[in-house]
Amino acid sequence: MRFAQGKAVFSREFTAETGLGPFFNNASCALCHEDPVVGGAGAFGEDDVDTERHATAGEQPTCDELEATGGPVFRQQTTGPALPAIPALAEVRVGIRSTPGLFGFGLIEAIPDSDILANQGRAGGRAAKLPNGTLGRFGRKATDSDLLTFIRGAFDKEQGVVVPSELSPADLARTVDFVRFLAPPPVLGVDRYGEEMFQAAGCATCHVPTFKTRSSIEALDRKIVYIYSDLLLHDMGAALADLCKGVATRAEFRTEPLIGLRNRTRFLHDGRALSIESAIVQHGGQGAAAATAFLNLSQTDRLALLQYLRRL
Ligand code: HEC
Ligand code: HEC
Repeated sequence: MRFAQGKAVFSREFTAETGLGPFFNNASCALCHEDPVVGGAGAFGEDDVDTERHATAGEQPTCDELEATGGPVFRQQTTGPALPAIPALAEVRVGIRSTPGLFGFGLIEAIPDSDILANQGRAGGRAAKLPNGTLGRFGRKATDSDLLTFIRGAFDKEQGVVVPSELSPADLARTVDFVRFLAPPPVLGVDRYGEEMFQAAGCATCHVPTFKTRSSIEALDRKIVYIYSDLLLHDMGAALADLCKGVATRAEFRTEPLIGLRNRTRFLHDGRALSIESAIVQHGGQGAAAATAFLNLSQTDRLALLQYLRRL
């Protein structure tokens, strides 16, 4: 019941009269998280806004999120007043973000911190320790540790809808439960050879295939989640680097979970890669060795790996 109620709030198209704006990116969560069903990834090339523009200045440890001038999420639509512009300064960096799918995110939230910390240092990864002591795991820069915080921010940043004046805490909680109980995509059988190639190329070092959850909610407790991420930040090299955010440097990104990869059509944080192969070979920095290992596989083994990835 809460899932269905939350889905309705997730799909509610706000208007200026019901709290939209004044600055916003889109009128509902579901207008961005839409493919192939509500809660999924963003579409590309339609007329509504499914990508965001982020901008911050400087670099860690003194990253400036430009809050005073409307950042770090610079909205693209307004109900009237002039939109804050991204400051045209040399130290300001801009990054585009494509809309990820949210399937299985309640299970991701239920991965114990200790299991994330246990993988620190593998391929240079580090946990996103936030100033409030929690571990960031949501957002491509691992800015938030739980769905409630992220989603409260999403209402504000994406729709200009503020809790509690424009949305009740009860409706916020329902939306969180919708996302929390979005089922993970079904596992499509075992592909041992593809999995071997995934291991052989070093992908699993960062894209850790599974974790076991712990939760006070029975449906989310002691489940195996096929996430394919260590939820750690990795330096991905100069070509992918864009802006600092949260505790991440310009070059650091959270290992993108490959759960639900089969539903995606564009890849990497800004959707720059039009194919999975392209996303792999663009891994730089701590991911460069895996990109080389992928290219060095025989054609048969490369195809086996790609086939495996297309079933995630
Ligand atoms: C304008 C399109 C847009 C709208 C509207 C939108 N989102 Fe998102 N969502 C995004 C983008 C882009 C990201 C990736 C942000 C990042 O990586 O920093 C994202 C990320 C997320 C994440 C974290 C995903 C991850 O990989 O960790 C959650 C959860 C989420 N959105 C939920 C919501 C909810 C709930 C709403 C409605 C209140 C909403 N979003 C509205 C575009 C949108
Ligand atoms: C050093 C850690 C690391 C290793 C090793 C690694 N990746 Fe990644 N991978 C990442 C990070 C971080 C991202 C997100 C980068 C971005 O969005 O710019 C990513 C993104 C991806 C994406 C894009 C997902 C999407 O939806 O945007 C794919 C596909 C992918 N990796 C596959 C692989 C494969 C296959 C291998 C092995 C050949 C591999 N990765 C090795 C860290 C790693």
